[in-house]
Amino acid sequence: MSRLRDKIGLVTGGSSGIGLATAHAFVREGAQVIITGRDSRTLLEAEAELGGRATSICADHAVRADNVRVSQTILERFGRLDIAFLNAGVGGPASVEDATEEHFDRIFDTNVKGTFFLVQELSRLMGPGGSIVLNSSIAPYGGAPGTSMYSAAKAAVRVFARGFSADLIHRQIRVNAIAPGPIDTPIFARYRKDPADLEKHMERLRSFVPAGRLGLPEEVAEAVVYLASDASAFVIGTELVIDGGASEAPHAAPIYLRS
Ligand SMILES: NC(=O)c1ccc[n+]([C@@H]2O[C@H](COP(=O)([O-])OP(=O)(O)OC[C@H]3O[C@@H](n4cnc5c(N)ncnc54)[C@H](OP(=O)(O)O)[C@@H]3O)[C@@H](O)[C@H]2O)c1
Repeated sequence: MSRLRDKIGLVTGGSSGIGLATAHAFVREGAQVIITGRDSRTLLEAEAELGGRATSICADHAVRADNVRVSQTILERFGRLDIAFLNAGVGGPASVEDATEEHFDRIFDTNVKGTFFLVQELSRLMGPGGSIVLNSSIAPYGGAPGTSMYSAAKAAVRVFARGFSADLIHRQIRVNAIAPGPIDTPIFARYRKDPADLEKHMERLRSFVPAGRLGLPEEVAEAVVYLASDASAFVIGTELVIDGGASEAPHAAPIYLRS
């Protein structure tokens, strides 16, 4: 298929999980893709896995100077940007009772500040038909222990899709968000080092999904391709939920059906 033929696309956090699956989908759909990440080793492995239509830029999106450098590098190498998936994000449980300021800054600097200032830079490279997709989450839909910082940050990302749309539509640049439910990626293992604790957490997540399973990164990638492509030309400022029914039909989840 070639829904993104000849597009120049950026996927932040493209070395793992949802970002890597989306980078694969962009390449499959005919785009040239640029991926980013902080760890140069995994980034280069991902670039090699993606093949000749992929290139990588090592960057920390929590750092403003890195966002400027990413944008300048894309301009120098490709002359423009057509689509951007701002996916890089961090989480990790932290209760209001014991969370640290350092944890707060890490979550907000990457997910919120990084998203804002990277869009500021990237939008300058985009022309009419440009499409920006932000990665939010269903986490803000309801309170869960230890998620207040992450949920607040992702709520900001969702709201950015509305505000950025209002700011950029006069240049025919669209901005939308996706809101994934629990997706099977390495993100959970980053914060839960004990295998038994991790498995217990994953089982708990599965029990809250009416579909009875975690989502696949490839299923999220399909939604991003749609929002990035011209097929969604009249879709602006919205949020597309990919969560196996967790937010719209929660009481059909296994946890409620157990007798
Ligand atoms: N998995 C889920 O259930 C789920 C649900 C809803 C939303 N999300 C969101 O989806 C996004 C991707 O998550 P994932 O599950 O695919 O996680 P993942 O497998 O841990 O991938 C995260 C990616 O982001 C990169 N990254 C993290 N912080 C970065 C930074 N400051 N600068 C540059 N790159 C950075 C990571 O590479 P480095 O570590 O090398 O930097 C990695 O490539 C996140 O925004 C997450 O909040 C995930």
